[in-house]
Amino acid sequence: MNSIRIDINRSKGIIDRNIFGGFAEHLGRCIYGGIYEPGSPLADEDGFRRDVFESLTRLNMPLIRYPGGNYVSGYRWQDGVGPAEERRAQLDLAWKSLEPNTFGTNEFIKFCRKLKTEPYLAVNCGDGDMREARDWVEYCNGTQPTYWVKQRQAHGFPEPHNVKYWGIGNEVDGPWQIGYKTPQEYARALTEFAKVMKWIDPDIKLIASAVSVWEHDVVERAQLMIEQAGSLIDYLGLHWYVGNPTDDFATYMAIPEMLEERLSAYEGLIRALRLDNKLTRPLWIAVDEWNVWYRTHPALGKPMNNLEEFYNLEDALVVAMQLNLFIRHAASVKMANIAQIVNVIAPIFTNPNGHFLQTIFFPFELYSRTCGNVALDVVVETETFSTADSSGVQLLDVTATLDEQRNQLVVYVVNRSQADDIETRLSLLEGYFAGDVQISTVNGKDIKVENTFETPNNVGTTQTSMNADGSVLTYTFEAHSVTAMVCSLT
Ligand code: AHR
Repeated sequence: MNSIRIDINRSKGIIDRNIFGGFAEHLGRCIYGGIYEPGSPLADEDGFRRDVFESLTRLNMPLIRYPGGNYVSGYRWQDGVGPAEERRAQLDLAWKSLEPNTFGTNEFIKFCRKLKTEPYLAVNCGDGDMREARDWVEYCNGTQPTYWVKQRQAHGFPEPHNVKYWGIGNEVDGPWQIGYKTPQEYARALTEFAKVMKWIDPDIKLIASAVSVWEHDVVERAQLMIEQAGSLIDYLGLHWYVGNPTDDFATYMAIPEMLEERLSAYEGLIRALRLDNKLTRPLWIAVDEWNVWYRTHPALGKPMNNLEEFYNLEDALVVAMQLNLFIRHAASVKMANIAQIVNVIAPIFTNPNGHFLQTIFFPFELYSRTCGNVALDVVVETETFSTADSSGVQLLDVTATLDEQRNQLVVYVVNRSQADDIETRLSLLEGYFAGDVQISTVNGKDIKVENTFETPNNVGTTQTSMNADGSVLTYTFEAHSVTAMVCSLT
């Protein structure tokens, strides 16, 4: 029989809740018409969409990255502060749009504080300079009576915003980026930006723009960044997007194997470079853009349509497996940001009258709301499948977490079989189940089913429960589903 064996004493690392982060960019209808729509009957007194806000609350995101993305590489943060009527509209060259700048730093931070999430700001390391970056830190976090601090106060914020997370640039390794940088150019810029930003506020955490192009320069970039800025930066930022452009379910379901390779390689790279550079401080990984994106991806020759991608059930499975990956790599991945949060390749989709929840909303919500603080080692034995690129891929993709305070085990299982329910024996090497097991399952009638405004419940989460004592239980995981089993232990 298929089996999952769990050792609750074998930790794979402490899970940082920041792996459930989000990302909001000035792109299409993410900000305007997404989270912000002053004048709409659905908006609150600050112009934030109440309905969107409620669904975002369900996702329980600990931090949100802003304002880009490619957008940030041409962004002047000063254009987005001060009285709204005096703000300068600008052409955004990244997405070829007109940016009114009526939503900027203070609106974003207000939004985050309301949502009880931390702001993560990315600075312009494209056509921007380190003076602007440093001034932005000062504007947000400064306490001395400087020009920028007084500006913030004049703009209605007497107290510092205390923005903890700051990214330096976005996808600087991509030729599509405004101000693309060679490995040498970025390592230099990173070091100088990081230096002055930390001189303004030594408590901030810095994220370097490490990899978005996975085909070349990965090692050289890491080497130069760590050699030059290893004592200044806190995270190395990785980006990836995956998809099913050839409409091949098995190949799509095996994509996490490739992501596993990338993450393991990058972990090894950081370890080797820390050793070489005698760095004793940790350097974490932030996967600060990840998701499914292929139907509206310009690099795949698709019309961009404001990146308004409609997701189906198979995409939800792939989102869940990426969360499994972050849990498995909890020892090194200390932040991850699903890109994005509303309308633009997002779990929430609006129109002026309301919104619906895309299929990918449900696994994210499930994991974010149930995940424990310790990643556990699991041993899985199931049937396997092979594709052109991967062989021996297990049908069940499994992780488990422990909530030490509640003595609660959560087992996450993605059944990537298109046709078969899989009966599985789940056993604990130590400890016992303590009765009630709450089971949540994300599924729909077939792998291609989507949610829409007209049919918003094609994919959703259903609940059931079972009783378990002793150290073994048996459960049948539905075909093409994501399941979380929340088990109390004794
Ligand atoms: O999230 C959409 C875009 O994807 C971002 O602007 C960019 O960083 C990435 O290429």
